[in-house]
Amino acid sequence: MSNAKSLSFIHRFEPGTDAGQPPLLLLHGTGGDETDLLSLGRSLAPRAALLSPRGKVSENGMPRFFRRLAEGVFDEADLRFRAGELADFVEEARDAYGLPAPIALGFSNGANIAAAMLMLRPKVLAGAVLLRAMVPLATPPAVDLAGKPVLLLSGMADPIVPEANARRLAGQLREAGADVEHAVLPAGHGLGQADLTRIEAWLQRQRLAAAA
Ligand code: MLT
Repeated sequence: MSNAKSLSFIHRFEPGTDAGQPPLLLLHGTGGDETDLLSLGRSLAPRAALLSPRGKVSENGMPRFFRRLAEGVFDEADLRFRAGELADFVEEARDAYGLPAPIALGFSNGANIAAAMLMLRPKVLAGAVLLRAMVPLATPPAVDLAGKPVLLLSGMADPIVPEANARRLAGQLREAGADVEHAVLPAGHGLGQADLTRIEAWLQRQRLAAAA
């Protein structure tokens, strides 16, 4: 049974059992939905609240978080609009469920909108795990991400995200002051055990830092 209230995005909400842990905002990839990352989120953060919206854009029936013109070529006007819309939803959900700012955990298209939200609405996220993300905006806006923790995991053999593009994103985030950990794993676009091990360790460090 879903605990989700009626808000501006179709979503799933699972309450946490430790209010001291930052909630995870789960953002699926192209063709996914609000159920996709729930079990991953629960295994990575057993006691955190999980908030998982469904992207509002449909590409031939596949949900996404923003429009693209081709693979890896984004409709930036739509991306900017959708990043704002998703940020508004996060604020709405924080009020409705009584949550602190979440850490985004996004895969592929979900990671790309999380990166755009960091750049356009930085206060909405406490941090982000960006899985197979690429540079979302051709001209990144000037933004202050001082101390914002970001884990970026890329695949060495990713056919969608060239390594240089992922490195450029890491550079943009660092330049804005974010505390970026970037690893290029021996992987493609899909996730593997090496991703999970890295995410678990990184989330554990965020919990320890929050408790200190
Ligand atoms: C995107 O459109 O966000 C990227 O090309 C990744 C994808 O969803 O395939």
